[in-house]
Amino acid sequence: MKALFFVDTHGRRPLHERIKHRAQEADVLVCAGDLTEFGEGYSEHLAFLDSIGKPVVLIHGNHESELTTRMLVPDYPNIRYIHGGAWRFGSHLFLGYGGGGFVVDDEMFEDATLRFDEAMAEHPDAEPIMVVHQPPHDIGLDEVGSRKTGNRTMRSYIERVRPKIVVFGHLHMHAGEETTIGGIRYINPGPGGLLLDLSRL
Ligand SMILES: [Fe+2]
Repeated sequence: MKALFFVDTHGRRPLHERIKHRAQEADVLVCAGDLTEFGEGYSEHLAFLDSIGKPVVLIHGNHESELTTRMLVPDYPNIRYIHGGAWRFGSHLFLGYGGGGFVVDDEMFEDATLRFDEAMAEHPDAEPIMVVHQPPHDIGLDEVGSRKTGNRTMRSYIERVRPKIVVFGHLHMHAGEETTIGGIRYINPGPGGLLLDLSRL
């Protein structure tokens, strides 16, 4: 089972074309947010993703609003908006949390963890995969200069649940980078995307 993860394409058509091309090898696409530049042309970009013909797991970035995303996504049958919730695909359970940017202590994320916990209890045999927009705190890939800008609430939840992989974006200077801490793989796939065989994690 192969997943193509990508983030922060910001409406750039050549990048979306590249994702479409690479999607031929994937069973599922996962967009970790900022599909647009300040929400511009959101429907067109969603329509493009939908037209690829593969299931797409989506969360919004800080360039899109939750409300607009919730309104638009039902028009596109291949797209699943998983912000604050979960979606099972095969033997994996995608847990999603979009938006943010530079939030450190996050009550909204805390609320979402109740739904993540419920979903994991309903699917105890599924492997969780965390898809967020903002990086978790203190993983090296949340640094802007020497400042750690990642989300602490997210990080402590991840340490508790221990998904094998956590995918995020937002900080473009860390696009395409990844790190493993305590057996958890933290990945910023960048706009070019990263194809992973989930059955071999
Ligand atoms: Fe962002």
